Amino acid sequence: MNIAISTRVSSSPELAHRLCLAAQATEAGRARSFTRQALEQWQVHGASADVEQVVSELVSNAICHARRGGSGVILALRRDDSMISVEVFDGDPSVPVRREPGLEADRGRGLKIVGALAARWGYVAAAGGKCAWAEFDLPRD
Ligand SMILES: Nc1ncnc2c1ncn2[C@@H]1O[C@H](COP(=O)(O)OP(=O)(O)OP(=O)(O)O)[C@@H](O)[C@H]1O
Ligand SMILES: [Mg+2]
Repeated sequence: MNIAISTRVSSSPELAHRLCLAAQATEAGRARSFTRQALEQWQVHGASADVEQVVSELVSNAICHARRGGSGVILALRRDDSMISVEVFDGDPSVPVRREPGLEADRGRGLKIVGALAARWGYVAAAGGKCAWAEFDLPRD
């Protein structure tokens, strides 16, 4: 896939990482591991469990919908002075929907977790599909 998923361009390549994933459930683990490595490289410790969890939720959703859209998934991570951003692209044009799952529902909690952990999140249309994104503010020194 050759898809630009961000309008934000990092001036330092080491502060931006990008991973192409197949639309297979096992790829979520690769995304988590990739995220952990990036955060270690950036020496981001405090927020790392939250970022990993959000990557896990967004990538799991994207894998599921990429299958329908016949695409892969792209994960992009960026760090600047003030925040970490996560972007996850898939090629299905249908969009995330915030659910209010009942106590017995076995699905529909992923985006609630994203909303609870990230400072901001959302999605934008992109290249025939969409990009779900989340941002985490870094503490000031
Ligand atoms: N990448 C996506 N593309 C299209 N629709 C999505 C995407 N991500 C989420 N959605 C929609 O938003 C709904 C809510 O997503 P959410 O992650 O909260 O729940 P879920 O994936 O159905 O279940 P869970 O995450 O609890 O296993 C989904 O049921 C789906 O309809
Ligand atoms: Mg989900």
